Amino acid sequence: MEKYRVGVIGGTGMVGQRFVSLMENHPWFQLTVIAASSRSAGKRYEDAVGHRWAMATPLPQEAKDIIVMDAEADAEKIAGMVDFVFCAVDMKKEEIRALEEKYAKLECPVVSNNSAHRWTEDVPMVIPEINSDHIKIIDAQRKRLGTKRGFIAVKSNCSLQSYVPALHPLKKYGLEKALVCTYQAISGAGKTFETWPEMVDNVIPYIGGEEEKSEQEPLKIWGTLEDGKFVNAKGPSITAQCIRVAASDGHMAACFMKFADGKAPSMDQIKADWAAFSGKPQELNLPSAPKQFLHYFEEDNRPQTKLDRMLENGMVVSIGRLRPDTQYDYKFVCLSHNTLRGAAGGAVLLAELLCAEGYITKA
Ligand SMILES: NC(=O)c1ccc[n+]([C@@H]2O[C@H](COP(=O)([O-])OP(=O)(O)OC[C@H]3O[C@@H](n4cnc5c(N)ncnc54)[C@H](OP(=O)(O)O)[C@@H]3O)[C@@H](O)[C@H]2O)c1
Repeated sequence: MEKYRVGVIGGTGMVGQRFVSLMENHPWFQLTVIAASSRSAGKRYEDAVGHRWAMATPLPQEAKDIIVMDAEADAEKIAGMVDFVFCAVDMKKEEIRALEEKYAKLECPVVSNNSAHRWTEDVPMVIPEINSDHIKIIDAQRKRLGTKRGFIAVKSNCSLQSYVPALHPLKKYGLEKALVCTYQAISGAGKTFETWPEMVDNVIPYIGGEEEKSEQEPLKIWGTLEDGKFVNAKGPSITAQCIRVAASDGHMAACFMKFADGKAPSMDQIKADWAAFSGKPQELNLPSAPKQFLHYFEEDNRPQTKLDRMLENGMVVSIGRLRPDTQYDYKFVCLSHNTLRGAAGGAVLLAELLCAEGYITKA
């Protein structure tokens, strides 16, 4: 099969490096362009990243000699060289909005990690196992943009990638509310212990904007598509506290859930629902789809961030410690890899879905 030509915008950053790694040996995607700021433009990728390379695997051979392009100044040229781009940049929100729209209008689909377009009315925010049907709104978005190929699709915030999938199969029992505390790794801030030494032996009880995203984004994901717009779900309502902890990768969440009176399922039923849950990526057998999306550990001391974040290439949600609670019905813990399932891996899976469903085509 002829591969799709892929660009990574923000390829020198933490999430961008993940994209570059995930493109190595990808069966459908060929890394073709890497772009970043004017600071990196014109340099070999290996030189532009330099000591910032933060992946556990070596920098892919195929990426080393790619000359980094300027995401803004070279946009037209880049759009002509690729079939679509991934985007993960650290810029002001309005600048990201403009940049992503520029690529879409240049007829280059954008699969984005950034939050800038998550609340744009006709931009789908997708966890492929949960709301794959939301991509249908791309037809309406293309009408607004006046494009044939170009569009923007986004993935949701990394903080909620563990508990939203865990809660999703339980909504049918009248799930009313959930309380979550997240314990988030430093790579979520684009950092390592070398670049953020203050985080060694530390916990910081604040991550700007994260609690709002953790509470509100699930309602768009669980929302419905009506007349070319999303109508947010009214519940389950979520309250969240997000805390930065001294882990390199992997966001853990402690979650409490309450069902409508008398409707709470048994613990065995919940575990059975988690074990049985799968979605469109598994149905379509997409290359990055985990076989067992929700993995339950019976051991009391699992999942652990360091031990379990890489389960099925970091694309799984690991769950454990389901037990009754005195104020809510049940509590449990869950874990997902923030730069894989929660960022680049989730976006690659979304791009695979968009290709399989015909929204991304070869230009
Ligand atoms: N880290 C995570 O777990 C995570 C999870 C979900 C979503 N996200 C989101 O993903 C995005 C990137 O996060 P990150 O952690 O990868 O950040 P990062 O490590 O700070 O990387 C930022 C990237 O943006 C590029 N950039 C900065 N200014 C630019 C400009 N004016 N034009 C073009 N490129 C520019 C940088 O290029 P230079 O190297 O040339 O400066 C670099 O490639 C953010 O929006 C973040 O909220 C991150």
